[in-house]
Formats: sequence, structure tokens, C-alpha cells
Amino acid sequence: MTNRDQELRQKAKETIKRYERLVERDPYRLVYHLMPPVGLLNDPNGFIDWDGTYHLFYQWHPFEAAHGPKFWGHFVSGDLVFWEEKEPALTPSDWFDKNGCYSGSAVADNGKLKLFYTGNVKNENDERESYQCVAESEDGLTFTKKGVILHVPDGYTAHFRDPKVWKRDGIWYLVIGAQTKQIDGHVLLFRSDDLKEWQFAGIVTGSNVRSMGDFGYMWECPDLFHLDGEDVLLVSPQGLEKQGYLYHNVHNTGYFIGRLDYETGELVHGPFKELDRGFEFYAPQTTIDRYGRRILFGWMGVPDQGEEKHPTVKHQWIHAMTLPRELKLVDGKIYQRPVEELKQLRKNEVSRPSVKISEHPQRFEEISGEAFELLLDVEENQAEVFELTIRDNVRVIFNRGLKRLTLERVSFVDGLTESRHCELAELSSLHLYVDTSAVELFVNEGEEVFTARYFADPANRSIQFKTLHGSLTASLKKWALDSIM
Ligand code: FRU
Repeated sequence: MTNRDQELRQKAKETIKRYERLVERDPYRLVYHLMPPVGLLNDPNGFIDWDGTYHLFYQWHPFEAAHGPKFWGHFVSGDLVFWEEKEPALTPSDWFDKNGCYSGSAVADNGKLKLFYTGNVKNENDERESYQCVAESEDGLTFTKKGVILHVPDGYTAHFRDPKVWKRDGIWYLVIGAQTKQIDGHVLLFRSDDLKEWQFAGIVTGSNVRSMGDFGYMWECPDLFHLDGEDVLLVSPQGLEKQGYLYHNVHNTGYFIGRLDYETGELVHGPFKELDRGFEFYAPQTTIDRYGRRILFGWMGVPDQGEEKHPTVKHQWIHAMTLPRELKLVDGKIYQRPVEELKQLRKNEVSRPSVKISEHPQRFEEISGEAFELLLDVEENQAEVFELTIRDNVRVIFNRGLKRLTLERVSFVDGLTESRHCELAELSSLHLYVDTSAVELFVNEGEEVFTARYFADPANRSIQFKTLHGSLTASLKKWALDSIM
């Protein structure tokens, strides 16, 4: 441990202590989503099921509820439900990462847990430099930095970051987000026998690569994995234009399905598909777990999207992780479902079979709350429009005529109503996880997902159901949910 490392750790501890009460007094502190103890959290990093423990690291700036030189914060869990916060894994203490230990991934190798991350450096002329680095641990708790393993290749700018490493047939592979000197976002593939020497294998895909047209100026946080017989590239391209219902956030996340040629690095793939339809979702990362499931965590935030306006900033913290979600490929589309284990959080079940919802708005005394799970299974839908309003802030609207699902909320920037949409032929179920200031909506068993933060009046616990032009019959189930820490 260097002096600088010790200093930063000490300062982070003091910052947690100094703001502990202010943070805890925030009515928007979440109940069952992972949050930073203080400061800013962004991308999930190094997600791995290692030696019987799930490790989830995260981009963390402890000193302000704003972006700055990132640490790697560290959560661990035995079951993906209940988590414990550990000492930070990495601090920006070395010449090669002094302005941030940026995003990356973890692998198990020879009994060690190895973290691959981007060292972000601003040099004396305030220019960006990028170094791909490794750190390792024997106990999964304390990490020793081993320095730089990869430099920016010719033809690319210093926007070169977020290595994701995996092993296949005894060979290591790494994908990384990159920007060409022509300012096109790319994903590159590298190969290694020993995790130390890396050879460039090829361009996976990118903006203006092969048959892709213009598709963004930088691609962040790539993840490439095999899912149900296909190769999937998950990535967050920056600089996409809005297109119909698509790409309404400042930065967006989606995926390509195809076949990766491990020799040339080329992914032959279909169209880009948006992964989440909501307001806050970015830079997700997956791992394969002990049961062979592909599990994803996403950041419930988007860079440069009104971050300084979040009401939690005055309580000295900002942002959270999504719930862990299991991925499946169904008819060429990724379905996301909250992992089964989350059922452990349920308490006080309320069940209302075959409720007829009509044009007269309905509220049920026992179906209300601020941190709960709600399951609505549609039995019959004759309504032109169905609306579910949560805490007079968030509204889910299914318009059967337009075949459209909408999530609306009161904007925390200007108080106006804003919305996100997707096409949806039929509504069969809504599965909602509502937390004090976050909502995750899983539609039709994960066919569509909307993730958003919302900031309702803390005293408002109401849930309202209503239709327009005809009625909808559904069975309702609701549980209060316990805290995860
Ligand atoms: C994505 C990102 C990554 C980078 C990290 C820095 O949100 O910009 O590309 O590594 O955040 O915190």
C-alpha cells in the first residue's frame, strides 16, 4: 500500500463518517437497491461469482455527489440478495490511474481474483491518457496493483477504456471500448495466453465499421458473451440520434446478436436493439454464476443527464444499481427478469384475484406503499387504455389501440411530465419493483424493461388503477420488501 493509497482510503472513511447522518436522513434513500455510502456511484464493475461469493465492484467517487477520480467500491453477497460493503478495492493512487480507476471486469485465475480496469490520467497539459491495468487478490478483499498491461493502439484516441475479460478454450479474450481518430466508437478484441501479453485480434464492430453506418462517437463498457446459442455484444454507444421511440436518453445502451469470429475479431451481427426503455439505465455488466445463469447489473443513471439536479445530491449521495437480472434469449431478443432469489425479500403478501379495473379510478387501502413489489397478471383486456399510477408521480400506460407501452414520470429537473415508450403488441403482465425513489418495470415476463428514478412526495403511498373505454381484469399481488443490507 502506497502512502497515497492510504491517504485516499482514510479520507474516504472520514467522508463516510462526516456525512453519515445527512445521507441516512434522506427520505429518498433506497431500501433494496445498492447505493454508495456517500458520494457518487456509477458503473457496475468486476461482477463475478468467485469462490462461493458474489462480488460486485462499482465506480465510486466518495468525495462529492458528482463525477471525479473514481475508486472501485466493493459489495459482496452470498446469495445476490443481501449485501455487505467491504473496503474499496482500488483507489486512484498511482501514476497510471491517478485521475480514476475507471471501469473494468474481474476473472478468476489460478486461485486469484484479477481485476482489469482503465487507469484514467490527465497529464500536465490536461490531456487524457488511458492505461489498461491489472490488480490481483488472494482473499478477494485486498488487491495489489500490478500495473499496465495494454496501451492505446495506433489510430485510436485516449478514449480507450472499460476492458471486459473472459476465457474460452484456454485462451483469454478482452473487449474494450475505443474511439478512432475519425471520432467513431468501436469495440476491439484482444487475445492473450497469460493475461499479461495481449495481441490485437480485430475490430468487433463499431460506427462506420463494415455495414454499420454512423453510430456514435464513443462506445463504452462493452460486454461480449454467449447466451442461449448466440454471441451477444452489450455496449453503451454515445452520440446516437433519437429515432421514433428509441434512444431518448442522453446516452443509451443496447446489444447486437451475432457470431464472433475469434480469429479475426469480427462479430457478424444483426441490428442494434435497445436493452432498457426507461430513463435511467447505462453501462450494464454481466457475469455467469454458479448455476450457469447470465446475470446483469446496470447503473440506474445516465452520464450528463441532469445528474446535478437529483434531489439526493443535497444529501451528499447520488445513483444506485439496478436489481440483478437474469438474461435469456427469446426469439432473437434479450428478456430480463429479476433473479428468483429476490423473493426472499417479500413480506406481508396481499392478493386480490380477478379485479375488474374500469374508468372509475380505483385505489386499494392495502395496495400501497413506498418499497414494494407488485405483480399484475392480465386476465382479460377490453380497455383501450390502461393506466397504473404510482405515488402520483410515475404512470404506466398501455394503449392497446396504438400497441404502445409508456412510462411517464414527473421530471426531477423541471417538474413537467416526461415519457418513454416502446411498442408492445399485447399486455399480459406487469411486474413492478418500486423502491422509495426507483422503479423497475418488467413487462410480459421480461420482454420489455423500464428503469427509472422518481422523486415523489415521501408521504404519498398511493397506487391507482384506471382504464379508458372498456375494462381490464387482472389478478394483483403485492409484497412489502425488506432491506438488503
Ligand atoms: C461509463 C463510464 C466508463 C468509464 C467510467 C468512469 O459510465 O464513462 O466509460 O470507465 O464511466 O467512471
